[in-house]
Amino acid sequence: MTVDTQAVKKAVITPGIVTALVLGLIVGVVTFGIVLRPEVTLTGDSQFNRPYPLPHQYWATTDEFYVFASGGQQGGFYVYGVPSMKYLSEIPIFATDQAWGWTPENPEIRSLFTNPWTGEIVERGDTHHPSMSKTDGVYDGRWIFINDKMFGRVARVGLDTFRTEQVVWMPNITGGVHGFSVGPQTELAILNIEHEQVPDPVIQDHLGIEVDLINGPYIAGFNGIVIDGAPGGDGTMDVSWQVWGPWHHDMVRVGWGESDGWIINTAYNTERAMSSIPMFGRENDYLYFWNRASIEQAIADGKYVTTEQAPDVAVVSWKDVEVYMTEIPLNPHGLDVSPTGKYILTSGKATTLIVAVDMNMVLEAIEKEDFQGEEYGVPILTTESVREATMDLGLGPTHIEFDDKGFAYIGFFVDSDAKKVPMGGPYTEKHGMEPWKVADVFPAHYSIGHIMIPGGDSAQPYGKYFIAMNKLAKDTFLPHGPLITESHELFSIGEVPAKMIDQMALGPESHYAQAIPVSLVTPNVLAVYSLPAQTEHPRVEYDYTNEVVNVYMDVVRSWFTPDMFTVPQGWHVNMHLTSQEQAMDITHGLAVDNYNVVTSIDPGEIKTIEFVADKEGVHWFYCNWFCSELHMEMRGRMIVIPQDEWSAEQEWQPAS
Ligand code: CUA
Repeated sequence: MTVDTQAVKKAVITPGIVTALVLGLIVGVVTFGIVLRPEVTLTGDSQFNRPYPLPHQYWATTDEFYVFASGGQQGGFYVYGVPSMKYLSEIPIFATDQAWGWTPENPEIRSLFTNPWTGEIVERGDTHHPSMSKTDGVYDGRWIFINDKMFGRVARVGLDTFRTEQVVWMPNITGGVHGFSVGPQTELAILNIEHEQVPDPVIQDHLGIEVDLINGPYIAGFNGIVIDGAPGGDGTMDVSWQVWGPWHHDMVRVGWGESDGWIINTAYNTERAMSSIPMFGRENDYLYFWNRASIEQAIADGKYVTTEQAPDVAVVSWKDVEVYMTEIPLNPHGLDVSPTGKYILTSGKATTLIVAVDMNMVLEAIEKEDFQGEEYGVPILTTESVREATMDLGLGPTHIEFDDKGFAYIGFFVDSDAKKVPMGGPYTEKHGMEPWKVADVFPAHYSIGHIMIPGGDSAQPYGKYFIAMNKLAKDTFLPHGPLITESHELFSIGEVPAKMIDQMALGPESHYAQAIPVSLVTPNVLAVYSLPAQTEHPRVEYDYTNEVVNVYMDVVRSWFTPDMFTVPQGWHVNMHLTSQEQAMDITHGLAVDNYNVVTSIDPGEIKTIEFVADKEGVHWFYCNWFCSELHMEMRGRMIVIPQDEWSAEQEWQPAS
């Protein structure tokens, strides 16, 4: 071994300089992305020579749709790509999700969790039916709305940030809402009350129905949520009115095209029973047609009451509006409107039947007063006069979607399959087949709940793909305890028979999903929040009057400034965090040891975290997102000093 003594002599460097250089190098690499690679000689099959399995950005360039699947018990959305079936994201809404910073220590998020009447903070939910914003009945890529069944809430999520922007709570009810649908111009959303209620006596008086707390029979109806959703609107939702009547309602569609101007919903419990078996007491249940203009007219005529809880919400009686109903197979669940608004298809869970009601026939029957009776004063349209087809297709029919070629698809829970049926009328031109006969059957694994075709509930289905949201996935994946993951199965429906392309495991428990073309979403997605020209100077302020410490803290790779502060025990701590990052995907976290405090801060985001410093001692806080090579070094201390040991000298300021 030869040593270049000359070189050694030239390199007279002190240990201090070496340390400084190494540290500088690390900071440079980490902070500014200076790339230093070891010189590696590639020989033959060296592992360094291995080709990357797929081209860079493969999925980003091949996926055609974003799927927004309700998370059910997860309380928000799951987002994945189609056809890759690659999970992309979650959008927390009604439930805490610390990974996404969705925690009530942030006052803005807390306000979304807070019951406006009781002040109760609710961090649980059950998301059900997503509904995209639309213009002329076609998805427009601005927002997606969804309801929480448990607490009677509706949320709006921005498709630019994939974050929840607004939550509204339904008044006069105790939750239990189900069907939800946004109108063709994003001007109105309807949310059905499924779990029958004992409402405020003011409402009972107005309806002329007295409800006994124990014996009922209880009453229900649906909520009208007016949305500032015309082009240029900001999407603000306002619960404006409720229609109440003797029935509950399950699924709903706000009509468009040939059914424009009508709110169409179903009830599976027209028996008004309190328990399961008696809900199958009748041979049929009802499909309802509510004239939207008549509801507005009743309100304009002053035919409404308000309650103390909701003085701005007009409560209208079913007796004061124009409503009709028609018999449909027992305990309906699926209720879907074909792309032109012509056909309303419903399925009876307790039967093998799917029926197609023609909206034009409905309007004609109304015009001719072609009724076969009435119930609670509501005319029952003659079944044969409004129904174009009755199909006997299989066990446990659930939901229905449409493609772009004139076909309807129905999912079957018990049969564990989906059936494809050509529709009649104007759709015959598209497929040239005899309508309402099964054209394809494809199995799913197992027990389909909801189904989804991109755009399949709108005036413009995109078709091509079909997703079965299977409730049971037994035998499909490795066992992982008594609760098996949910499964989403992707089928290509451009061919007969439909071909299964892929299967994915997804957490509990999607009820419905909607898919929107990537081209409508991607151009608007925010990469970073833009910081104002001037942000708060890092500092600590002690407010002795209110016993609050305000910590103005900068967050950037790889430190907090200030990285320590002191606080008298029992005081409130308001940490005003500013992420000084402007680089995409560099999200930081803030977790406080031994405190129930955690959040995340996206690049450029400014947010406040509030808590009480109730535990004395030294509490490290740290960044819990892997943001840089020095992520673990990104930490600081909160020192909580008992009040009797506190003096103003212990106030802390960061070095300026
Ligand atoms: Cu910032 Cu980890």
